[in-house]
Amino acid sequence: MPPSRPILVLNGPNLNLLGTREPEVYGRATLDDIRAACEARAKALGVGIDFRQSNHEGELVDWLQQARDKASVVVLNAAAYTHTSVALHDAIKSLTIPVIELHLSNPAAREPFRHISMISAVAKGAICGFGAHGYELAIEAAARLARGAD
Ligand code: DQA
Repeated sequence: MPPSRPILVLNGPNLNLLGTREPEVYGRATLDDIRAACEARAKALGVGIDFRQSNHEGELVDWLQQARDKASVVVLNAAAYTHTSVALHDAIKSLTIPVIELHLSNPAAREPFRHISMISAVAKGAICGFGAHGYELAIEAAARLARGAD
């Protein structure tokens, strides 16, 4: 039986600019392209998806809090807030559902300030460095978690 709660995919600041923002780092796919690929993958796997983006830390905190009884798994690309946000760390810690950390690039291979993640210690796992395809990998991992397979 497919899980009844959707996978929540949250995208943080500046990810609305994908496609034109540093394409040599983040690729040429737009966030709409990525949303469409996630929706197609989720449909094929028989799970629902709720895909959102915000440039505002507090809005991401609100969405994480609401995920408590609305989502089965959260896929989170917190973008720059990954490296700074105690608020996102605490919001994730308050959840009992799993959170998958996601990045298009591999932050560990970039500037030192990106080597710190406030998300990793409270995430189930992380997918980094596979570009837009990482979103599909995350949906696959999330669908397995949602079914209780892992
Ligand atoms: C990012 C990596 C972050 O360091 C950066 O601030 C982003 C995007 C990624 O998807 O590679 O905005 O999360």
